[in-house]
Amino acid sequence: MSLQIVSPTGGIAPLLRAEGVSLEYGSTRATHNVSFDVYRGDRFVLLGPSGCGKSSLLKAAAGFVRPRAGSISINGAPVDGPGPDRIVVFQEFDQLPPWKSVLENVMFPLLMTKRVSRHEAAERAAHWIARVGLGGFEHAHPHTLSGGMKQRVAIARALAMQPDVLLMDEPFAALDALTRRKMQEELGRLWEELRFTLLFVTHSIEEALVVGNRILLLSPHPGQVRAELNSHQFDLASAGSPEFQAATQRIHNLLFNPVGPAQAATHAERAGQAASPDWSAAP
Ligand SMILES: Nc1ncnc2c1ncn2[C@@H]1O[C@H](COP(=O)(O)OP(=O)(O)OP(=O)(O)O)[C@@H](O)[C@H]1O
Ligand SMILES: [Mg+2]
Repeated sequence: MSLQIVSPTGGIAPLLRAEGVSLEYGSTRATHNVSFDVYRGDRFVLLGPSGCGKSSLLKAAAGFVRPRAGSISINGAPVDGPGPDRIVVFQEFDQLPPWKSVLENVMFPLLMTKRVSRHEAAERAAHWIARVGLGGFEHAHPHTLSGGMKQRVAIARALAMQPDVLLMDEPFAALDALTRRKMQEELGRLWEELRFTLLFVTHSIEEALVVGNRILLLSPHPGQVRAELNSHQFDLASAGSPEFQAATQRIHNLLFNPVGPAQAATHAERAGQAASPDWSAAP
């Protein structure tokens, strides 16, 4: 059994922690003082309008971007660059080198990080390719695959690395509605089987409710935390139910028609909400 990291207070420590993260590009402030904790097995969603800094936060968690202020840590250690413990799946279909077959694409990071022998990498890659439903396509090249199939390859490549956190930036946004739904369903099924930790970015309220068990709502540019909510009660089957619609409407109002002056919820104000079956907004 693996060791559980326990905080000095006796509670379970977060796997990934963002504390007061402000991100800047030159004079542009992308996020301001954003804090959140992701626990092992969470499907944690960053939700907010275009330009609020969701991708920037994900890149900071991946170690591609350094915070101007605040910090991000994983397993208690500061993130100071990319690492095999955090693998990203992007929205773009061109994230796979086109000259490599599906098998070679999935094997590539395993070989790069020298984790396993070539033989073992091939076996592990074949296993994950089958797990995402692409058995038989091992020797196909990306240009012969549909958008959904390419995203499956990217997911297989990421899961084969067995990262501590799987980072996904709008991975299904460029797919047609039916394929998107199917991919959401399959991601849910994979999570049920594997219970990996997911940090998922979307600007779709519905997708956030379907994919996430916890959702962080970010205000428009620069992104600040507006609210955090638990959404584990929702899935694709409940989409369209009155409860789902009410949650969608409430999130919409919080994002776009906040009552009173928009204020950011501090981390302390949100403390303890993870145990709550409901959710609360910033005051
Ligand atoms: N490489 C960059 N150079 C300069 N500014 C950037 C860069 N990347 C992002 N920004 C700016 O930072 C802000 C946040 O961008 P980011 O891409 O993180 O937002 P987002 O929430 O992911 O938006 P979207 O939903 O459209 O993907 C925006 O104002 C954007 O213009
Ligand atoms: Mg983005």
